[in-house]
Amino acid sequence: MRRGSIASIVGIGVVAGGVAAAVALLFNWIPDPASDEADRITFLFWFVIVICIVIFALVAAVMIYEITHFRAKPDDDTDGPPIHGHTGLEIWWTLIPTVLVTAIGIVSAVVLARNDAEGSNPLIVDVTAQQFAWSFSYPSAKGLTSGTLRVPLGRSVVLHLHAKDVLHSFWVPEFSQKQDTVPGLDTKLHITPNRLGTFDVICTELCGLGHSTMRSTAIVMKPAAFEAWLHKQSGAVSSPNGNAAGAAVFKENQCAGCHTFKPANATGKVGPDLDNLAQYAQKAGKPLADFVKESIVDPNAYVQPGYPKNVMPPFTSIPADQLDALVQYLTGKG
Ligand code: CUA
Repeated sequence: MRRGSIASIVGIGVVAGGVAAAVALLFNWIPDPASDEADRITFLFWFVIVICIVIFALVAAVMIYEITHFRAKPDDDTDGPPIHGHTGLEIWWTLIPTVLVTAIGIVSAVVLARNDAEGSNPLIVDVTAQQFAWSFSYPSAKGLTSGTLRVPLGRSVVLHLHAKDVLHSFWVPEFSQKQDTVPGLDTKLHITPNRLGTFDVICTELCGLGHSTMRSTAIVMKPAAFEAWLHKQSGAVSSPNGNAAGAAVFKENQCAGCHTFKPANATGKVGPDLDNLAQYAQKAGKPLADFVKESIVDPNAYVQPGYPKNVMPPFTSIPADQLDALVQYLTGKG
């Protein structure tokens, strides 16, 4: 091959590789990682991308050079010359991809193994998914149940995921991992948060009409602040003072997002005004406490006229004592 041809192939390759690299680098394709696992996945991602860009540049260069230099004349209908294989070339184009694919396989296996290593003292969080809400409970804190996922910075967190009804899937983009929740199965996800912040929890499995609204929040806190929160909340939940316990449950399950309730300074407008529960119970023809409890665990049993059905998810994963505290709080008996 002439020196000039090699120079032009290299030139085309540099341009093609440059364009591909610019597309990869100039856009924010993936969010900034917020966990050790996401860091490793991001590393793996770039490892593969770099290999792909080099191969792309090579293939593009050879292809563009051949198309422009060996093009048949428009009126040339003759057969091309018979070509026998080129053993040297075939060895290289078998060997190089084999090495690259093996390397990707090995790096992926290492990343997977390290991401699944839970460490000696992981924080366990039970995650319950249901149409269309997430709830998170902390077995180490008397089953404290929260509508937001709070986790401490730098500690291994193992999520045990459960589904109440259909398939859902847990996803925090900054944590890079997704895990399905499957009715009847205990699936797990291991996360080691390494950046403070508030991130979206997204359901990423089409699970029904409210799928797009099935969102929550993950908050990565300083370990001391997390411990303080855990103690305060679980203390309130088990306190003999029903009011404080109920208020804590009300807050943790984010009732204020949809409901108005003066004692909690809640001003949500999606669902019925909880200051009028006595009126609603009368209308439904049920004793107040029974009515309130039923409306929490089975919201569709009676829907206040003027409000849509199937909007409030059944909060069946709230432990019994927390549920009682919430009912007392809502009925003003706390
Ligand atoms: Cu749950 Cu989509």
